[in-house]
Amino acid sequence: MVRDGREIVSSIVASQVALHAPHGGVVPELAARAHLECIGPTVDAALAALPGGWDDVDALSVTRGPGLVGCLVVGAAWAQAAALARGLPIVGVSHLAGHVYSAWLSQAGFEPPFLALVASGGHTECVLLREHGDAVRLAGTRDDAVGEAFDKVARLLGLPYPGGPAVERAARDGDAARFPLPRTRLEGAFSYSGLKTAVRYAVRDLGESGLTRGGTPADPEVVAALAASFQAAAVDQLVDGLEAAVERTGAERVAVVGGVAANGALRTAVNERLRGLTVVVPPMSLCTDNAAMIGAAGWHRLQRRGGEAGFGVDPSLDEYA
Ligand code: KG4
Ligand code: ZN
Repeated sequence: MVRDGREIVSSIVASQVALHAPHGGVVPELAARAHLECIGPTVDAALAALPGGWDDVDALSVTRGPGLVGCLVVGAAWAQAAALARGLPIVGVSHLAGHVYSAWLSQAGFEPPFLALVASGGHTECVLLREHGDAVRLAGTRDDAVGEAFDKVARLLGLPYPGGPAVERAARDGDAARFPLPRTRLEGAFSYSGLKTAVRYAVRDLGESGLTRGGTPADPEVVAALAASFQAAAVDQLVDGLEAAVERTGAERVAVVGGVAANGALRTAVNERLRGLTVVVPPMSLCTDNAAMIGAAGWHRLQRRGGEAGFGVDPSLDEYA
């Protein structure tokens, strides 16, 4: 729940980590069902922060694509029903625009134009927000997204779901130089499947004696070293791509957003390598998926374009602003 787009009145996250952990990754069907079960209680918890409850709500903002369509449909249907029942305007907001706006939300005075690196489980993109409502994609996701690579590498190393934080923890004590891994640098795109495959081969090359029965490295030092080497390469690729976009655009303000922006090594690297620029990396609670960022982006969209005609939110519409 946000007031005037900016002030976070409440931000309730219904985590599905425990649901998906036994499967080692998100199971889309389970995710959609859990959305349906959680959405009512989650909205109620968010509304509890308002003295008048629904009576104090002026408008609704709901996430549309890109994302898991089953989950998006649940959210869009629920929010549209609520908007109709309460006679409130509703806006559909791009999931990725939401991430971009987490930077605007987290720092007063951080206004467009700014360049944003969106690093999440499904996307690795550089976006220039020229002004509110006017975004250009400069570099997109070629194959695996960076967060997806963290999650897959965690599995290869026998680390628990969710993979990003687990790899980061394991990497802390690891020797990043022990297993040199390649970096993929492309013009106008980010690719992580090559790096993930390089980790797969490094694990395979340990041979039977170096592996558990489940096929993951048996030696915790090897796990730590591979995690550290992967993280270093993944972060390098991200910051390289971001630097290229900075050069191309001459941007002076840069944001790093999305779930992977919670990664400490990335946060440090960005601040070191982009010294001299204004760099905003939101607090961790605004990096991973959250409602506040969708509220902030929706507030801007509502100012500019008003609510959706006929309450129609298309959950599959992939349009940035
Ligand atoms: O933005 P997000 O919450 O959901 C999507 O839009 O995908 O991002 C989730 C992704 C997952 O792939 C997760 O492993 C990654 O963000 N992630 C991290 C960290 N925390 C979450 N990756 C690296 N280091 C972290 N500390
Ligand atoms: Zn996200």
